[in-house]
Amino acid sequence: MTTEIGKELAGQVALITGGARAKGQGAAEGRLFASRGATVVLADVIDEDGEATAGSIDGAEYVHLDVTSEESWDQVVADIMARHGRLDILINNAGIARMGRLVNTTMDDWQITMAVNQTGVFLGMRAAARAMIEAGNGGSIVNISSVAGMQGLFGSTAYGASKWAVRGMTKIAAKELGRHQIRVNSIHPGFIDTDMLNQAGGLDDEQRAKMARSAPIGRIGLPEDIAGMAFYLVGPTSTWVTGQEFVVDGGWHG
Ligand SMILES: NC(=O)c1ccc[n+]([C@@H]2O[C@H](COP(=O)([O-])OP(=O)(O)OC[C@H]3O[C@@H](n4cnc5c(N)ncnc54)[C@H](O)[C@@H]3O)[C@@H](O)[C@H]2O)c1
Repeated sequence: MTTEIGKELAGQVALITGGARAKGQGAAEGRLFASRGATVVLADVIDEDGEATAGSIDGAEYVHLDVTSEESWDQVVADIMARHGRLDILINNAGIARMGRLVNTTMDDWQITMAVNQTGVFLGMRAAARAMIEAGNGGSIVNISSVAGMQGLFGSTAYGASKWAVRGMTKIAAKELGRHQIRVNSIHPGFIDTDMLNQAGGLDDEQRAKMARSAPIGRIGLPEDIAGMAFYLVGPTSTWVTGQEFVVDGGWHG
């Protein structure tokens, strides 16, 4: 099969969770995938933002999906299959970051983090894999972990645990789904300039400069840096790549 350069994802349907915020990684992936020919479904719980972001991308639509809800996943994937007849790409991007040291982490911090970051990825991979197997076209699942899932990041007890789990679940799913031509990989972003990084009042200039200096490349990452890796992993030049972890962090980890 030949692939038209520039339209590598033509005819494919991509579901991206946590895609509502215009400045987020999910939206950047949606913009890139749609520009390469995919039909993009952005999913999130903040519907007003989601509708606005999808409305700004040609070839994108928005659906409400709480990734912690089994029922919500089943409905959204069934709806995509009914309307589009296939699901080729899932980006499990939705996440929350309740940072905190072990001794200060509450049960609430722990449970909500696991529900969104770990259970959300489990439910998403399961729902998508079932649909992809049924459609018989193979597929690509990309789970967004973090550099906090590659090493022990100080002050990230719940978040780091959830992101290590995502890294592990990715490898297991890749072993099981390869026979269906479904690939599963994880991306491990460093500091990326999104609302998540700027939460709780935002970063001051000194904090931003320190973060930028922490990476050999010397800047904070952009959502487009992650979208580029995601595009590689869902595109036609990575068809023998599965079960792997891809750190995108300007050289910080390692
Ligand atoms: N920004 C960083 O520095 C950084 C670093 C490493 C990893 N990450 C990971 O990247 C991913 C994307 O984050 P981002 O930086 O674009 O931040 P973001 O806050 O813009 O995106 C996260 C999105 O997830 C959505 N979300 C939260 N709970 C949800 C739920 N229950 N169901 C559906 N959607 C839900 C939010 O509404 C938001 O739109 C996350 O998984 C995050 O953990 C971010």
